[in-house]
Amino acid sequence: MELHPHEIKILDVLDEKKTNKEISKESSLELDAVNRALSWLATKGLVDIREEVTEEITLQEEGKTYVEEGLPERKILELVEKEAPIRDIEERLGKKETNIGLGWLRKKNQAKIEKTVVRIIDRGVESDEKLLQLIGRRQKISSNDLSPSQKKALRLLRSRRSLLEIREKKHIWAAPTREGEEVRGRKVEESISQLTPELLINGGWKDKKLRPYEVDLYVKPLYPAKRHPLSHLIDRIRMVFLSMGFKEIKGPLIESAFWNFDALFQPQDHPARDMHDTFYLERPGHVEIEGFRKYRDKVKATHENGWTTGSTGWGGFWSEETAQRTLLRTHTTAVTCRYLTKLKKRDLPSKVFCIGKTFRNEAVDYKHLPEFYQIEGIVVDPEVNFRNLLGILEAFYEKMGFKKIRFRPAYFPYTEMSVEPEIYVEEKKEWVELGGSGIFRPEVVKPLLGFDCPVLAWGLGLDRVAAQNLGLSDIRELYISDLGWLRNHQVL
Ligand code: PHE
Repeated sequence: MELHPHEIKILDVLDEKKTNKEISKESSLELDAVNRALSWLATKGLVDIREEVTEEITLQEEGKTYVEEGLPERKILELVEKEAPIRDIEERLGKKETNIGLGWLRKKNQAKIEKTVVRIIDRGVESDEKLLQLIGRRQKISSNDLSPSQKKALRLLRSRRSLLEIREKKHIWAAPTREGEEVRGRKVEESISQLTPELLINGGWKDKKLRPYEVDLYVKPLYPAKRHPLSHLIDRIRMVFLSMGFKEIKGPLIESAFWNFDALFQPQDHPARDMHDTFYLERPGHVEIEGFRKYRDKVKATHENGWTTGSTGWGGFWSEETAQRTLLRTHTTAVTCRYLTKLKKRDLPSKVFCIGKTFRNEAVDYKHLPEFYQIEGIVVDPEVNFRNLLGILEAFYEKMGFKKIRFRPAYFPYTEMSVEPEIYVEEKKEWVELGGSGIFRPEVVKPLLGFDCPVLAWGLGLDRVAAQNLGLSDIRELYISDLGWLRNHQVL
């Protein structure tokens, strides 16, 4: 068995049971080094280690006063021989101390209180008083040295406020095992673990034994900081889109209904706005909308009569008030809407994506949360069509490691055609729905972009894919931050 020089030193001084502090003193090794070497020795079966926690008890200021003057109940016993009116005691000791004293006398069965008079039953010195005196004399005692009755007395003293100060102390005891004794008896050949310049120059290394590495020894696991698996996955998705030539865009979590719904041609009185179970905000109830003036009239006209989009619109009256309501964005499509207004003809073709939190008032269960991530993207390009959209989504999921993908026809107020991509999850043997996509309608594109142009768009759920990817069956686990799971989860 290979032993480290520290281990040899420790075994040398460990001829009987000793604390780590004693070992440190006798071996002149630092306490830390002793502790480390002791745990090595223990894993090798050469020493037994026992940890012991003791309480070190000292007096606080009030405790010291009581040692000198006696506890309040003792003061009362000294004042009263058989019985006395409580008022007399109060006059001498004050109300507060009298109260405390009487309380304890009753608790300890040393006195009876009859209306306004106290009658003494027993004036013996109780064990808590004795213990208090003992601590006073010794200044410091350890709970380990107390007899059972003293321990009981300690409990009584502890229950009084600001009397004692109790500090926990940890001791580590070590004793050699039988095998340890044997190894100590044998003189272990000294080996070196560090090759110094001197040893190299004087050739001393030639007759020294070099200590080999022990790679299979147990070490305490280390958990260095690492990124949350979800952030890690988001980065991967980001890389996939960047590698496909997309640029990242961002937008605010608190949105106006205008960018979240109206600009997307969602009628104001349509259940489509409830479809999302929107969290509207009470404060601020209304917002100033960036670019509102510029887009308000076009959006209003599009809703009311179709404006120049070729549509007949939804009819009715479009309310500015309703558009100015504030909410937590229900989809990242609000971000792409804002982006459309920033685009000029000369910027085309343009490909952007957005990964961000969205909010819907959903009942929480294993596949629904009121806040979740969406992966949004658009391609604005006069040359693209529906087949490009399907191709892009397929390429994305393939890069994310999903082999089977299919598309189901769907409906969104702002796209035509519309589809919902689904991936096949082998383990579950089922198709998982991922979100929506389609080509934005002219009623969305024309007012915001200023001219009509194919805009491929999608808004995909991230959390279900994440749960799948990270091997979780319940998406809630993504946000619980279970330390055990986080520590052991391998970051790829
Ligand atoms: N915004 C839709 C949703 O959150 C998804 C979507 C985005 C659909 C873009 C079509 C186009 O469900």
